[in-house]
Amino acid sequence: MLGNFTYCNPTKLYFGPNALDGLAPELAKYGKNVLLVYGGGSIKKNGIYDKVVSVLKACGKEIYEDGGVMPNPSTQKLYEGIRRAREAKADLILAVGGGSVCDYAKAVSVSVNCDEDPWDKYFIRFEDVSCPVVPVGCVLTMVGTGSEMNGGSVITNHEQKLKIGHVFGENVFPKFSVLNPEFTFTLPKYQMISGIFDIMSHILEQYFSGTDDNTSDYVMEGLLRSLIHSANIAVKEPTNYEARSNIMWIATWALNTFIAKGKDTDWEVHMLGQAVAAHTDATHGMTLAAVSMPYYRHILPYGLAKFARYAQNVWNVRAEGKTQEEIAAEGLNAMEAWMRSIGLVMNISELGATKEMLGGIAESTLVMQGGYKVLTKEEILAILKESL
Ligand code: NZQ
Ligand code: ZN
Repeated sequence: MLGNFTYCNPTKLYFGPNALDGLAPELAKYGKNVLLVYGGGSIKKNGIYDKVVSVLKACGKEIYEDGGVMPNPSTQKLYEGIRRAREAKADLILAVGGGSVCDYAKAVSVSVNCDEDPWDKYFIRFEDVSCPVVPVGCVLTMVGTGSEMNGGSVITNHEQKLKIGHVFGENVFPKFSVLNPEFTFTLPKYQMISGIFDIMSHILEQYFSGTDDNTSDYVMEGLLRSLIHSANIAVKEPTNYEARSNIMWIATWALNTFIAKGKDTDWEVHMLGQAVAAHTDATHGMTLAAVSMPYYRHILPYGLAKFARYAQNVWNVRAEGKTQEEIAAEGLNAMEAWMRSIGLVMNISELGATKEMLGGIAESTLVMQGGYKVLTKEEILAILKESL
């Protein structure tokens, strides 16, 4: 049942091969000082850095650089970014990179004018922003997280072995995002498929909850079918524009708040994956892939009808002569076969997790309330063992 909700997504998108043309008119809306945030150097190798800097210069901007944002951005890097943004008196934070860079930019944005420790305030106490934020814009180079059009920001505290996301409000969403699918062509295959599974997981986290006849579920089935189809093409032909552009657009819609409206959502796969990453620093989408099958097989009996619907509507499982249990199990088998076929990591041991780490990973796993089964600590441990 679609209950009460408000919907507003303030991020302006520029999509397509000419998307960067949107940057100059957006820059004109902000002051002179731009903090240019990027990752470990991929944008310097593939030429995106030069393209962005030439637009910034043509617009007369003062550029302050903050590079070296790592995948799974850390609290330490966040504190450095806050210092840099303050020194620069940044009028705009321009994130050029993937979800890590974009998430980090948002975390800096809400911390520059904050007197408290941002990790404690936002990621431990989950408090709202109570200070002016510095606007963020994004030029996306890696597809998956949806960070380009949402308020999510995920930060890792290595000392505390916690990787936690805060979903900030509309004032923290990027003001604009430049989405050129061609900017993702240089992604290594490992990152591309990791992003593809991140997208799938975002949709499933919102799909496997609730028993109502929600329009969002039909939208999600369409997004999943398109994702699977486009992913099959992209793994064979990484520069196939049609496939890559579809994947980019699905990623944005998978997590820009639209499909969650009026629905309960789960997010337990993300909690498990983030806990694995807190202990291993592994690639986000791969952590999700490695825990998904044991998790979904574990909760299947609690959401049987939805798993059977998923099997038929997404994986084309034929229902005739089969029980609901058989249909549902066949759907998950088809999902697993597809995951293996595109090359995803299916075990957390391949990501660096060991038997000895499992207790700690279970401790770091937050328990969500919205899915078909609220997990006990014993169940979390059992799923992690299965994922090993
Ligand atoms: O750092 P550089 O050198 O740029 O290399 C990156 C990085 O090593 C590389 N890369 C990015 N674009 C490239 C490229 N290499 C070649 N060509 C390009 N065009 O890819 C690597 C991974 O980048 P990263 O930004 O870490 O990946 P992703 O976009 O998957 O972001 C992951 C982070 O986002 C968080 C994750 O937890 C993780 O910390 N998430 C954010 C969410 C949100 N904001 O809503 C939700 C997600 O569930 C997720 O949790
Ligand atoms: Zn994710």
